Amino acid sequence: MNDMTEQQFLGGGCGSGSCSCKSNNVPVGDLDFGTPLRDSATRVTLEIDGVPVDVPAGTSVMRAAVEAGINVPKLCATDSLEPFGSCRLCLVEIEGRRGYPASCTTPVEAGMKVRTQTDKLQSLRRNVMELYISDHPLDCLTCPTNGNCELQDMAGVVGLRDVRYGYAGDNHLNASKDESNPYFTYDASKCIVCNRCVRACEETQGTFALTIAGRGFESRVAASESQPFMDSECVSCGACVAACPTATLHEKSVAVLGQPEHAVLTTCAYCGVGCSFKAEMKGNQVVRMVPYKDGLANEGHACVKGRFAWGYATHADRITKPMIRASISDPWREVSWDEALSYAASEFRRIQAKYGRDSIGGITSSRCTNEETYLVQKLVRAGFNNNNVDTCARVCHSPTGYGLKTTLGESAGTQTFESVAHSDVIVVIGANPTDGHPVFASRLKRRVREGAKLIVVDPRKIDLVDGPHVKADHHLQLRPGTNVAIVNALAHVIVTEGLVNESFVAERCEEKAFTQWRDFVSLPENAPEITEDLTGVPAQSVREAARLYARGGNAAIYYGLGVTEHSQGSTTVMGIANLAMATGNIGREGVGVNPLRGQNNVQGSCDMGSFPHELPGYRHIGDAAARSLFETEWDVKLQPEPGLRIPNMFDAALAGTFKGLYCQGEDIVQSDPNTQHVEAAMSAMECIVVQDIFLNETAKYAHVFLPGTSFLEKDGTFTNAERRISRVRQVMPAKPGLADWEVTIKLSEKLGYPMSYAHPSEIMDEIARLTPTFTGVSYQRLDELGSIQWPCNDAAPEGTPIMHIDEFVRGKGRFVITKFIPTEEKVTRKFPLLLTTGRILSQYNVGAQTRRTENSRWHAEDRIEIHPHDAEDRGIKSGDWVGIESRSGQTVLRALVTERMQPGVVYTTFHFPESGANVITTENSDWATNCPEYKVTAVQLSPVAKLSDWQRGYGKFNDTQLELLKNRTVADATR
Ligand code: SF4
Ligand code: SF4
Ligand code: SF4
Ligand code: FES
Repeated sequence: MNDMTEQQFLGGGCGSGSCSCKSNNVPVGDLDFGTPLRDSATRVTLEIDGVPVDVPAGTSVMRAAVEAGINVPKLCATDSLEPFGSCRLCLVEIEGRRGYPASCTTPVEAGMKVRTQTDKLQSLRRNVMELYISDHPLDCLTCPTNGNCELQDMAGVVGLRDVRYGYAGDNHLNASKDESNPYFTYDASKCIVCNRCVRACEETQGTFALTIAGRGFESRVAASESQPFMDSECVSCGACVAACPTATLHEKSVAVLGQPEHAVLTTCAYCGVGCSFKAEMKGNQVVRMVPYKDGLANEGHACVKGRFAWGYATHADRITKPMIRASISDPWREVSWDEALSYAASEFRRIQAKYGRDSIGGITSSRCTNEETYLVQKLVRAGFNNNNVDTCARVCHSPTGYGLKTTLGESAGTQTFESVAHSDVIVVIGANPTDGHPVFASRLKRRVREGAKLIVVDPRKIDLVDGPHVKADHHLQLRPGTNVAIVNALAHVIVTEGLVNESFVAERCEEKAFTQWRDFVSLPENAPEITEDLTGVPAQSVREAARLYARGGNAAIYYGLGVTEHSQGSTTVMGIANLAMATGNIGREGVGVNPLRGQNNVQGSCDMGSFPHELPGYRHIGDAAARSLFETEWDVKLQPEPGLRIPNMFDAALAGTFKGLYCQGEDIVQSDPNTQHVEAAMSAMECIVVQDIFLNETAKYAHVFLPGTSFLEKDGTFTNAERRISRVRQVMPAKPGLADWEVTIKLSEKLGYPMSYAHPSEIMDEIARLTPTFTGVSYQRLDELGSIQWPCNDAAPEGTPIMHIDEFVRGKGRFVITKFIPTEEKVTRKFPLLLTTGRILSQYNVGAQTRRTENSRWHAEDRIEIHPHDAEDRGIKSGDWVGIESRSGQTVLRALVTERMQPGVVYTTFHFPESGANVITTENSDWATNCPEYKVTAVQLSPVAKLSDWQRGYGKFNDTQLELLKNRTVADATR
């Protein structure tokens, strides 16, 4: 081995088996135990290098050694994956045994005496390393993972100083790179064929995209059919990259920016799974986002959005200076914060003076932190002195709040995500977790691979129905709009076949309400044989699914927007709660009713009092005692009547009674239904203040633009779908100079209602003072515990992972009669198809973030999915431009002909504004909450050659607004 080579290999490691030099600033949780934790009540005591250690039965010798403070060298083992035993570096000696067993695959035994550091072992390990290094490029100093490479570390640990075989023979040093994935590189020349990536893709992600192709010397990692990663089944979750011990799979950002210098724990700002991440930083620059293995929501896993799609935070489209304009046909004028906020406040006061106190309102965001959201609703209630505050949960999970509060007593899901590992039957209704909640989907798929039964209730053949490695036992492929009928049919079978858990119901639920419900669901009209014509689901399938749910062991229901976004969204939520109560599937691990929340902080925005009728903690504004508590703390008299919901605001704007809006972090023009109606309402207002990071569709109608911050620039908390409150920590300075919470405070001050907080932690302290379910929550407690699931108070100082254990929050569970009332949105000869909408993995909601990342490589436009029969009837082929017309409007999208659809139903996503998906959707909404009926719109499709009138109009308006932005008057740099 020449000097250069030796220097290169030793350069990265200090040679200590327990080296921690590369983990400076990295949380202790990153210690790798080599093999997974075993869950056993039986303890085993053994001795390793003379150190006694006591571990659960089934633990590997390697893990026990780490518990004893001894790191055995390893390459193919890591504690997120089952051991594989291929590298032979972790050999140990065990007294009384012949040979040198691999410590990663050898389970502990009582009284075992293990040696990990003998001369013989050192020599064997050096030989192993020598073989690896003899077929490895000698470019450590210029390698992207130099200093963060386990191969490099192990060369140091085993004391490798020389490679006796030379480098002349056959090798893989010139193997080619696969750069097809925009976020990571596969450099085959560096692969040691340890299989960690393959196992990560199988065990952690559940996609099975990777294999080791070839044998012996020829063996190499292959994606799908030896395709480039981009063309394979890979969903770019990054699990293989995180698992790879070498530079073979590495993030491109690391190759460009170099190794990170420090790390900060924070929480993903995309979906309601709420994955915990280490933002690995170089100064103020994010080098990579690494899923945090001690994060309880994700346990070290991530999806393509949180893992890789963070570049939007520094995108050139960011607007970082406040701007104002008198009318939306004027160019923007950059102004100081003071001028922008004074202008906004004076406009709001002018409007109130002219049109009345209730002529303005605010919209909070499910993307912003709890603290930011709390302040906006406080500003509306105390500063505007009305209750015209609403949130984007209005258009997604407001029925969850209503339905679960009514039946169970709390507006939130009942479990942890981890709970699914204890389910025997998993029911997914109106949700598509592999796209919408990918990290939870990986947990769910793992449980199904372990043998749990899966029931999917969805109009489409989503991936969970018939994927290569997961298959639903029952797919109830219902027609859109018939959820309540299906839920009632399931209940009918449970009741009429004697499957009710009578003792649970007798002990835990209101007797009278149960009796009424039982009589109702027993009616012949709810029998699956009768509902079959309506729902399209064969009666036998419903009967089998109901029996499985009721008698299959622990049964959990997970549901999404396919349940809530209907005219009977709240009814279905209550119907789901009825099923769980009737079968006793609530109040313990593995069961429950679990809404999969769309955006990162939907739960939190609802908890924080964003709805017009509820103060923080879901206390009705009409409740004098609750109101008085807030009046005392806020030193203001509050109005007792609920304010306007978002759709009411639009209607009032068109009626001329609602003239001003403060909209934080929400793009109502793109996300709300019946776009033309929303656009008209926006045009009718006199002062719209938008606080956001980009000039989104709503901001194009705004008069004041207040630049917002991304999650990387803020401190606060998000609350995920499990009620888990997690810290969001600032990793880079706020680009606009002020944090969002500071902007709200300043606006409030200008309105004459000063608020005083020095840090978001003080806002949380106020929330805790005023909200019984948050009493025990503080930043200090969050730092100590990592995260907290509310309720957290004296009764539950460390939070509440599972709710309703001994009794329901409301005392006795309440069954509610859920009569099926068909939606008014009916198919006709003119509109013979039903359109339903949803999301795709790589894009997120209105796409403002993901469209500004490489994620658009996977999904660059919204498409209309159509069944082959419907396509053939209309002469439509995949890729054709198709006109879609509903009672609300028309748009044009490219077609995707697919058997995922059932005949009569079409589907699209709504990630691109120019698609105009919501030009089509109607104003029909949930009877209880006004949540729009996005999932059912009667439409007709036909091939077309040009864009719709709306799209052409949008194109012109958009061009004008971008031009007005481009031509904005730039602020005086000295202000
Ligand atoms: S990125 Fe994820 S899906 Fe793709 S190969 Fe790696 S582990 Fe599998
Ligand atoms: S790519 Fe990495 S994880 Fe996969 S086999 Fe090669 S070295 Fe191991
Ligand atoms: S699953 Fe959701 S929270 Fe987790 S990384 Fe993906 S988008 Fe973020
Ligand atoms: S770490 Fe045990 S055989 Fe590789």
